[in-house]
Amino acid sequence: MSDPAPEASAQAALEFVEEGQTLGLGTGRAAEAFVRALGERVAGGLRVRGVPTSERTEALARDLQIPLITLAAAGRLDVTFDGADEVDPNLDVIKGYGGALVREKVVAASSDRLVILVGAEKLVPHLGARGRLPVEVIPFAESLARARLAEFGCPAERRSDSGGAPFMTDNGNLVLDAQVSAIANPGDLDARILAIPGVLGTGLFVGMASAVIVQDGEAVDVRKREGV
Ligand code: A5P
Repeated sequence: MSDPAPEASAQAALEFVEEGQTLGLGTGRAAEAFVRALGERVAGGLRVRGVPTSERTEALARDLQIPLITLAAAGRLDVTFDGADEVDPNLDVIKGYGGALVREKVVAASSDRLVILVGAEKLVPHLGARGRLPVEVIPFAESLARARLAEFGCPAERRSDSGGAPFMTDNGNLVLDAQVSAIANPGDLDARILAIPGVLGTGLFVGMASAVIVQDGEAVDVRKREGV
């Protein structure tokens, strides 16, 4: 069964949560399911603090009365929970179809562990299989970034919102969706794109996920990176 409601993986993710922790709260459907499950635990007395990765997640967490803290005040986080758009067999990930990739990566990089929640339909043999790599770029650098991405063999389109206007991130920037196919060396491609002046981040999360919770129907499988 594909694209199940992510409640089962959200419940499994709660196993990673301990009293007193500071948690990164991701963006998207799976992450929001986790935030809702966490909200129930908080209502039941669990004491944690959250650092949201988007304004949308912040609004949800506030509704659920999950205590929030800024990244600056938190410093180091214990665990971040987030969704993903592709997961390969190494547990490397593409994120950013929802447009929050840079804040998601900053929060994940500030965390001791990153736990990813996906449906089985997000598992791919090679990153790039779904054909799209999001890249956040400052508006001034759009033409340069698009030219360099085309030179890399990844021609990119500026993302639009549902009304046809340019999609703007919470950081006030554009997202370019670069066309990709199977990415032979994700770390190398990430470094090359990051070297383009004005690029703030790509959706490639290489070597960052500590665990991936895969939901297939109501079945949940927890895959952990070796040595974590
Ligand atoms: C947001 O920018 C993304 O990285 C999401 O985490 C990712 O697109 C997965 O979202 P869903 O859980 O909604 O599929």
